[in-house]
Amino acid sequence: MIDQTYYFGINDTLAGDYRTGADFNPNVMSLYNIWSRYSKKSQDNHKRTHAAIARGQVLFNTKLIKIKSVKDINDDLATPELSGTCTTCHNTPNSGNHSIPMPLDIGISDSSRRTPDMPLYTLRNKNTNEIIKTTDPGRALITGKWKDIGRFKGPVLRAVASRPPYFHDGSAKDLPSVINFYNTRFAIGLTNRDKSDLVAFLASL
Ligand code: HEC
Repeated sequence: MIDQTYYFGINDTLAGDYRTGADFNPNVMSLYNIWSRYSKKSQDNHKRTHAAIARGQVLFNTKLIKIKSVKDINDDLATPELSGTCTTCHNTPNSGNHSIPMPLDIGISDSSRRTPDMPLYTLRNKNTNEIIKTTDPGRALITGKWKDIGRFKGPVLRAVASRPPYFHDGSAKDLPSVINFYNTRFAIGLTNRDKSDLVAFLASL
């Protein structure tokens, strides 16, 4: 989509569009709208594939995710649970990164996910004595702030299929592993078809 515009704050989840004042639009991805006319029952293999990609796009834009325990989103807004979608975080139109700088902690560097080849940092808060164990302090290495431990940027999702493994530590070996991570982390309840549709969509970006 060569006529896709971008500017800072084009679709901020919290404040909407900084220039036009329009509300946040959760329908971030629209590349494949036209393929929603194809049926999964089509005799034509290509049309069935196109239909799956279009369904995956709809799931990406609309499938409800109860966002919990994500630093920044939940702490800063003081909401223990926020109803969102993939596009709450991947909100730049037809690109999929975050449209303003907003590193988030979705739990990738939690010590519970550590494999033996990863480091383990034990960090202690000098004021509260709280301890956090993490495989990567993330944004906190730059800011020195406790609240930034484990926060990472959401990357652009275009051409994502060309660069496995995924997440900053490469802990998801392929796109199905990414989807399984989200399905477990946020208890989304995706069916097997939802999962394969989301993978078909991501793989086509
Ligand atoms: C709460 C915010 C949030 C939600 C919801 C979310 N993501 Fe992410 N996503 C991120 C962040 C942050 C990263 C980078 C994490 C890292 O590398 O540590 C990421 C990374 C990814 C990546 C890896 C890209 C790469 O190049 O490594 C993919 C693919 C992805 N997300 C797809 C999805 C899909 C599909 C959904 C919905 C099922 C989703 N995301 C929901 C915040 C979110």
